[in-house]
Amino acid sequence: MQTPELARAESLIRTIPDYPEPGVLFRDITPLLADAEALRATIDAMIEPFAGQFDVVAGIEARGFLLAGAVAMAAGVGLVPIRKAGRLPRPAASVSYALEYGTATIEAHDDIADGTRVLLVDDVLATGGTIQAAHALVPALGGVVVATSVLMELVALGGRAIVPDVHALFAA
Ligand code: PRP
Repeated sequence: MQTPELARAESLIRTIPDYPEPGVLFRDITPLLADAEALRATIDAMIEPFAGQFDVVAGIEARGFLLAGAVAMAAGVGLVPIRKAGRLPRPAASVSYALEYGTATIEAHDDIADGTRVLLVDDVLATGGTIQAAHALVPALGGVVVATSVLMELVALGGRAIVPDVHALFAA
């Protein structure tokens, strides 16, 4: 539900044209993160539909970490970092996925018990490749993705077609 606090939080997302390359409209969430009330309202709203339904938060590097730690603390659960390839000493599972040019890989340690209920958290749903890969990674750790919560969906990039159940607080 869109509250005045969430409307204000959304208004703090800054649109930057031609970044990181010409023709791209970059959505910069740093003004929202810097505002205590907006950050609190955002974190609470990312949790609210799934309260009590998850045992741990899995956050996706890098901008997803900015939200996932706060979500985990607010929900009173732990945090599993999903990292880009090569940054963990003992990854238990890796999943590669296609980018527009080339591939990317995400990895995680196996620090959760089998059957752990996982809330996936990221900042943005764009093409959906990252979240789709995370949906494959979590079961490889023994976890079960019960929901995915993102701050913002970039509708034109069509990610919802491949990950239809993502909860997005804002859309652009
Ligand atoms: C961004 C964003 C999401 C992903 C979404 O990560 O944080 O994780 O892209 O894109 P997709 O839906 O097309 O997969 P990126 O790796 O670009 O940057 P970051 O390391 O700053 O989070």
